[in-house]
Amino acid sequence: MDPERIFELEAREEAVEVGGRQVRLLTYGGSFPGPLLALREGERVRIRFRNGLDEPTNLHLHGIPLPPEVDAPHRVLQPGESADYAFRLQPGSAGTYWYHPHLHGQVARQLGAGLAGALVVRGPVDETVLAGIPEQTLLLHDLALGADGTPLPPGGIDWLHGQEGDLVLVNGAVEPALHLPATLSRIRLVNAATARYFHLDLPGAELFLVGQDGGILEAPVAVERLLLAPGERADVLVRADAGAALVLRGLPYARGGKKAAAEALPLARIEVGNLQGLPLPARLREVELLEASTAHRTRRITWGGAMRPLRFFVNGRAFDPHRVDVHARLGTTEIWEIRNPMHLDHPFHLHTHAFQILDRDGVPEPFRAWRDVVNVRPGEVVRILVPFREHPGLTMFHCHIVEHEDRGMMAHLEVLEG
Ligand code: C2O
Ligand code: CU
Ligand code: CU
Repeated sequence: MDPERIFELEAREEAVEVGGRQVRLLTYGGSFPGPLLALREGERVRIRFRNGLDEPTNLHLHGIPLPPEVDAPHRVLQPGESADYAFRLQPGSAGTYWYHPHLHGQVARQLGAGLAGALVVRGPVDETVLAGIPEQTLLLHDLALGADGTPLPPGGIDWLHGQEGDLVLVNGAVEPALHLPATLSRIRLVNAATARYFHLDLPGAELFLVGQDGGILEAPVAVERLLLAPGERADVLVRADAGAALVLRGLPYARGGKKAAAEALPLARIEVGNLQGLPLPARLREVELLEASTAHRTRRITWGGAMRPLRFFVNGRAFDPHRVDVHARLGTTEIWEIRNPMHLDHPFHLHTHAFQILDRDGVPEPFRAWRDVVNVRPGEVVRILVPFREHPGLTMFHCHIVEHEDRGMMAHLEVLEG
């Protein structure tokens, strides 16, 4: 067999500098964000994870199509315990991913305290049509810090809206100065915040979306701005003049129940170098189109919640680790109709099985992409197509405002064989 790529990753508390302050965060490998893991399609990978915290945690490789027994989101690793995450990256998995804890009830606090890192999978498309384009990965996060420099756990109203920290960070830095060497460069964006939406623009540059979540698109799509809900990723080509000085901004976004910020927030300064960029590729790859007519059934997933005590529901029930909520059959494709009757936005996320968005409130999705997160706005109905082609077993789906996930907005899916 081909050799394994081995990575060691330890969760531990560490003093790090953020925005000119000494803070104590929960980190992967002592840094915030954790190390960028660069992988390749087809490769065998083993991540040796150790819990060096003084509390239980686990590791989730968000978006990677892993068999449930490898993903193991129910695993509880006590302080000092280790676990290996060993898998092979499937063909077609080139894309942008990330990793974070998944211990039910503790995700918001642990992710909010710094446990997040990006993971990039490269494949043939990166060595052909996108070869030679310089790239950077930008992990977006925010921190709510107490006066003593430790992260504030979510409390009170945070459980309703999700906690937004006042320190908004790009790769752990406040408004960093970034350098894009060429007039055509690539940035991979990861929204690793617990609840903050990033509505991005980059005035003075042209943006072309080339990938979303774990999938490269068929062809670049020109966009003016990008909305990244928690958990979502975007892979973008940036075209600008040599020497341009740009500002990546977070624009106001009125997510349900919360007032939008009054003005745009500068997130990073970007200076474009003098290297003549390559031409924009016309095509990227073939992306299979899933047809609604091939679906075996339609299933309704409805977000919900209740106050006093505050809980969030999927189809009227809060998460129960001992209950299987949905059964599906391996080898079938389903339409999931995700309905959000609430006044809050809720980003839907499914483990293990990538999906395509069919339509939003009846409006067909304009291009094909393989996704693992889709935001569902207040009152909206989003329909997705999910093929269950491999990886039978017990997996989960949830809202990726992780405060909501911790408070019950999660459910089990079991994919049965035969
Ligand atoms: Cu990013 Cu179930 O999580
Ligand atoms: Cu996930
Ligand atoms: Cu939610």
